Amino acid sequence: MKNTIGLLGVGNMGTAILEGLFKKRVSSPRRVWVYDKMRAKESAFARKWGVRRAASAEDLARRVQWVILAVKPQDLAVTGAELKPALTKKHGIISILAGTPAAKIRRAVGAKPVIVRSMPNLGAKAGASMTAVTGSSRSALRIAKTIFDACGRTVVLPERFFDLVTAVSGSGPAYFFFLMEVLARFGASHGLSRADAELLAVQTASGAALLAAGGEASPQEWRARVTSKKGTTEAAFKVMKRSGVEKILARAFQAALERGRELSRSV
Ligand SMILES: NC(=O)c1ccc[n+]([C@@H]2O[C@H](COP(=O)([O-])OP(=O)(O)OC[C@H]3O[C@@H](n4cnc5c(N)ncnc54)[C@H](OP(=O)(O)O)[C@@H]3O)[C@@H](O)[C@H]2O)c1
Repeated sequence: MKNTIGLLGVGNMGTAILEGLFKKRVSSPRRVWVYDKMRAKESAFARKWGVRRAASAEDLARRVQWVILAVKPQDLAVTGAELKPALTKKHGIISILAGTPAAKIRRAVGAKPVIVRSMPNLGAKAGASMTAVTGSSRSALRIAKTIFDACGRTVVLPERFFDLVTAVSGSGPAYFFFLMEVLARFGASHGLSRADAELLAVQTASGAALLAAGGEASPQEWRARVTSKKGTTEAAFKVMKRSGVEKILARAFQAALERGRELSRSV
């Protein structure tokens, strides 16, 4: 049972995380069990990767040490009640439920298991998640970090930052998609085909992200390097500055943060 992993909720995020583990060979499918109330999803994933199928959430918990809780937040109470009878002090629950505080997970699964709360993002589907993890057990955090490092990068943060993490990296992919969308629409409005305009925008975003993640310079430094005096990029930034784009974006991110706080309080 030691170091075995169970996925509860074989959906978009849960499968992206497991696929990362298998591709990076951090865990083998033989050590992994899955359970989803949609048995068809579970069996398709099991056939593809050769993982084993549990008969219920409780059965899953009897077979594994670490349970990745990957159902929707509104399914937590039901799932917790199903898991609870099988949970012991040797279990670890790694929750990826957005906007769901550890205290609420604790109420659902009872006093025994160790809990790690995490917040991955959509990048997990491309092996490039940004995941924040929090919890009080160092060894459980180490395991969670190993799991999430297999599908991107991981940072350990106090739980008080989780609504902020949700606003920055949780919703973040959509902000960048939006910029790509606007840039592509602009290209298309001046005569490029939709496909060419999207290629230009998306590949440019991808190159910029790779450079920024490379560590040679900060995003701000990269931007300064490509913004030559009296050039085209500078002309664009002059308009953005005059129009208060940074303030508008900060207001938008603040709205995401406040909505995250509201949702955390409501659960
Ligand atoms: N998508 C993201 O970018 C993202 C980012 C960070 C965190 N998250 C979190 O990740 C979690 C999963 O999101 P997702 O997009 O992967 O959802 P999803 O594709 O709907 O996957 C959840 C799966 O769990 C199943 N399920 C529900 N109740 C169950 C139960 N009692 N026992 C077993 N299986 C059950 C669902 O079945 P049904 O479809 O029949 O309900 C569904 O197949 C959410 O809590 C979300 O907040 C998502």
